[in-house]
Amino acid sequence: MIRVNGVEHPLPGDARTLLSDHLRHGLGLTGTHVGCEHGVCGCCTVLLDGKAVRSCLLLAGQAEGRGGLTIEGLAPDGQSLHPIQQAFHDAHALQCGFCTPGFVMAVKGLLDENPDPTDAEIDEGISGNLCRCTGYANIRRAVKRAVMTR
Ligand code: FES
Ligand code: FES
Repeated sequence: MIRVNGVEHPLPGDARTLLSDHLRHGLGLTGTHVGCEHGVCGCCTVLLDGKAVRSCLLLAGQAEGRGGLTIEGLAPDGQSLHPIQQAFHDAHALQCGFCTPGFVMAVKGLLDENPDPTDAEIDEGISGNLCRCTGYANIRRAVKRAVMTR
């Protein structure tokens, strides 16, 4: 079993199934995006036991008995945004939005570990996530806004 957003789910039958594929195709959690599929872009970032991981580099079976959090788990009622999501919205930190779930989850992992990061720590915290649209300035602003509002 793996626990995702607080709910227990069986593991996929095929032991070769990637965690990213299981989340998207097995559990229907399509907020986890898949870009490069080899650990470069960060789009597939989720939290596993509180740590940001690239779900395209893990087998679903490696999450057995562990707790996963996806973007859907941040605002479970579907109405109000999580403070980090709200900060991205308020700071105009997205354009096409494809990279955004990965950034939001990376920032959640960063701020859970370090609630008041320096600029350099913010840059390091998001350095594993690629965005083709924004130029990163507003993403940095969003992280700082999230620090103040969460
Ligand atoms: S899809 Fe996983 S890092 Fe790009
Ligand atoms: S907002 Fe388009 S890739 Fe980041």
